[in-house]
Amino acid sequence: MGTWFPKIYDAAMKPLEASQFKKIRRDLVEKAEGRVLEIGSGTGINFPYYKNALQVDAIEPNPSMSKRSDERLRCAQVPIQIHESGAESLPFADDTFDTVVATLVFCTIPEPLKALAEIQRVSKPGARLLFFEHVRMEPILLSKTQDFLNPLWEKICDGCQLNRDTLDLIKKSGIEVAKIESYYAKLFLYIEGINGMTEREKYDE
Ligand SMILES: C[S@@+](CC[C@H](N)C(=O)[O-])C[C@H]1O[C@@H](n2cnc3c(N)ncnc32)[C@H](O)[C@@H]1O
Repeated sequence: MGTWFPKIYDAAMKPLEASQFKKIRRDLVEKAEGRVLEIGSGTGINFPYYKNALQVDAIEPNPSMSKRSDERLRCAQVPIQIHESGAESLPFADDTFDTVVATLVFCTIPEPLKALAEIQRVSKPGARLLFFEHVRMEPILLSKTQDFLNPLWEKICDGCQLNRDTLDLIKKSGIEVAKIESYYAKLFLYIEGINGMTEREKYDE
């Protein structure tokens, strides 16, 4: 992992945070209720916005990112515990969470479908799955530009895949997509998903 990336992350995000991201994050995170799982919490940029959660378990595999969340952790309005873990193998029991929050993280997770399967496993049936992600753009010229930039982009941005079609992956994973809102010419999407039934419930029907 690039050692400099965690150091510059918050500063690099400032212009986007100041324009629209702050509001998007606040609106998304305020929807998180009950027992909440946050995927790839990074520098804890979402932590100040949790108001309605009972308890948040945040996973983050890079200690250089999570150590930068100490101040936000101290000031949080709800209890938050950070676990050093990747999303592809979550250290939680089946049907644990009421809400899952994932912002700007599915671009970087090496095995996104595995992570989406894990999210469904640890979420209760009917749990709200809240994503804010940059995605592959629809116009061919723009998606081809993303393909062209990606080899350099992933080197600079700690493995981030600029051209990943995260919405398609979410749909393929079996998560029911209930709502989509787009920002910045559909480069960024807010995606609200609902966790389906457990295997046992499906079997019982
Ligand atoms: C671009 S940062 C986003 C941080 C934060 N979620 C935000 O909204 O600003 C991507 C984060 O994903 C984390 N990450 C990388 N691989 C991961 C994995 N396999 N599972 C979960 N998180 C991962 C990185 O360490 C980093 O903190």
